[in-house]
Amino acid sequence: MEPKSIIKGKVNYIGVNDRSKYLFEGMWPLPYGVSYNSYLIDDEKVVLVDTVDINFFEVYLRKIKSIIGDKPIDYLLIHHMEPDHSGSIRLIKEHYPNITIIGNKQTFGMIEGYYGVTDGEMLVKDGDELTLGHHKLRFYMTPMVHWPETMMTFDETDGVLFSGDGFGCFGALDGGFIDNRINTDKYWDEMIRYYSNIVGKYGGPVQKALQKLMGIPVTTICSTHGPVWSEHINKVIDIYDRLSRYEAEDGVVIAYGSMYGNTEEMAEAIARELSDQGVKNIVMHNVSKSNASYILADIFRYKGLIIGSPTYSNQIYPEIESLLSKILIREIKGRYLGLFGSFTWAGAAVKRMGEFAEKSKFEMVSSPIEMKQSMKDENYQQCYELANAMAKKLKNDDQ
Ligand code: FEO
Repeated sequence: MEPKSIIKGKVNYIGVNDRSKYLFEGMWPLPYGVSYNSYLIDDEKVVLVDTVDINFFEVYLRKIKSIIGDKPIDYLLIHHMEPDHSGSIRLIKEHYPNITIIGNKQTFGMIEGYYGVTDGEMLVKDGDELTLGHHKLRFYMTPMVHWPETMMTFDETDGVLFSGDGFGCFGALDGGFIDNRINTDKYWDEMIRYYSNIVGKYGGPVQKALQKLMGIPVTTICSTHGPVWSEHINKVIDIYDRLSRYEAEDGVVIAYGSMYGNTEEMAEAIARELSDQGVKNIVMHNVSKSNASYILADIFRYKGLIIGSPTYSNQIYPEIESLLSKILIREIKGRYLGLFGSFTWAGAAVKRMGEFAEKSKFEMVSSPIEMKQSMKDENYQQCYELANAMAKKLKNDDQ
């Protein structure tokens, strides 16, 4: 017999945990795994809320049947079409051929494209409602959080918000699935990492969604990743609000590449001086070792960013180049930027990073600094000046 799964009213948790995948989207490490959450509303009308990754279909179907037995499912409510949630649509349709799929005008083209399903669809618009018996659902369109078809559904009867990826986080669920019955410590950092890696570019649409949801009496958030939020709703909303406004704490991220330790010495000198100037939050990332996932999370967290690159075949060091691309994709706003670099016979990295500085629209705290071959007194001096300029900006913001 399957364990209890009730969240509230007739809403059940039927998600699955993925503890095998190394890289989410082929890029982002999953040290604590990830959950693909789905929900089943066992009302007079039965509603399946999103599905799970297709690899988990067998266990997923067993969970569904443990609640409703051989009863049919009336509706499949789709909030988001990324295959970690939509992956089981075709198989659900095969098992429940009379099911009606609820989505918006962006949803159905994707369902046909991914799964070849074209019938039994019910199109809903912003504000539409659906009564199931005990529960009454209202649909909210929240496009581009972080795909065009993303939407959310509010259960007006019990205050449950089905939010898709919104308010989600990395981290599998180790036993319990509701926040007030588990230790939530690991999820807070994993939420910042999830947001910055997956949703990061779409701060504007997330803000629009938050404004739309303002005033709705939410008591429970059922996202598609991570715990069901009940006790910590305000904290979760606050994190998504701050991150989507690109609001940052005092602190500096130093991300650098170094092949033989010379550029790293610049990073060390800058960090030491930042500390001497009273900056407490300093995070150093050697890009050859730190996965960009964690660097991005720290860039979302802190106001200051200092990037260092050796010149490599007349280019930016490739690992730094890759990081710069990931930063630009996310259109992070309002950071202070410092740049440093090195070369052996002809400088190129620092000059080329100037293009990144322009595109990012970050505020440069001083001119970029560049070292030839190894650290001399003048290079230490340049590093101290860069660190001082950054520390001053942060201090001025505090006043
Ligand atoms: Fe969890 Fe955007 O899929």
